[in-house]
Amino acid sequence: MGRYAYVNGSFVRHGDASVHIEDRGYQLGDAVYEVWALFDGKLADPEGHFARLERSLGELRIAMPMTRAALTIVLREAVRRNRVREGLLYLQVGRGVAPRNHAFPDGDVPPSVVVTVSAVDRAATEAKAAKGVAVITTPENRWGRCDIKTVGLLPNALAKQAAKERGAVEAWFVDDLGFVTEGASSNAWIVDAEGRLRTRDTNANILRGVTRFTLLDVLREEGMEVDERPFTPAEAKAAKEAFITGAGSLVLPVIKVDDHPVGDGVVGPMAMKLRRLYIERARATAI
Ligand code: PDD
Repeated sequence: MGRYAYVNGSFVRHGDASVHIEDRGYQLGDAVYEVWALFDGKLADPEGHFARLERSLGELRIAMPMTRAALTIVLREAVRRNRVREGLLYLQVGRGVAPRNHAFPDGDVPPSVVVTVSAVDRAATEAKAAKGVAVITTPENRWGRCDIKTVGLLPNALAKQAAKERGAVEAWFVDDLGFVTEGASSNAWIVDAEGRLRTRDTNANILRGVTRFTLLDVLREEGMEVDERPFTPAEAKAAKEAFITGAGSLVLPVIKVDDHPVGDGVVGPMAMKLRRLYIERARATAI
């Protein structure tokens, strides 16, 4: 973790950073967050993440803590102070501090704002991508508003831990109809048995992944077709390739679903090509 965190208006040493015990994010999960990939010290996919932050806050009727321009300055300053070039930036905005009560506090309570920055070893993550990763599937048990990026991540945390205990890096939630919704911290894709690129549409109860949208843009420009349609774990197991997208994983090849090899059980050409295309685009458009 970086040496400095931003907490409610000031930069403090990371080890000394803390929030109030009655912060509603801490007590009630009444907060939203965003994670940006950092390329060469710059924020990847800025527009998509800011737009989603504003939408998440709007859906919960939490005020933007400052203008987008001011927030951009704070985020860049957090990156600069931590001297991180390749990494991740975490921003959390919550409804603020008030005596514990489920209903919103009366009056003007300022939103809480926390920013942390961490470095990523790109050589290590490239090596991981080149080897591919395993995922497990698990029944969907989250609430009906997964489009809002809230910090209420207990089902995601439990699913990730289950994945970890089975030697996998991600868990794919499967809904009552038997379709994969998304991963605990990523969106899910396959190149199906017929060679079609598929990922679930965002009318479903999933997070509208920014990496997913940027990749869709890149694919459109490359003239590549994508079928925005859900798939089952059985289709994923029978697929030629599978991969996940997210600010942390970028585009990460999946070679096993529930211990069953996907395709030949090795990283396929499409996932690696899309990883390269996404990273090129994200580096070129980062601010
Ligand atoms: N997670 N789905 C879920 C449930 C997520 O938590 C995330 C991101 C994604 C991918 O979204 P994006 O492409 O905008 O990063 C999909 C972040 C990285 C996290 O929780 O750390």
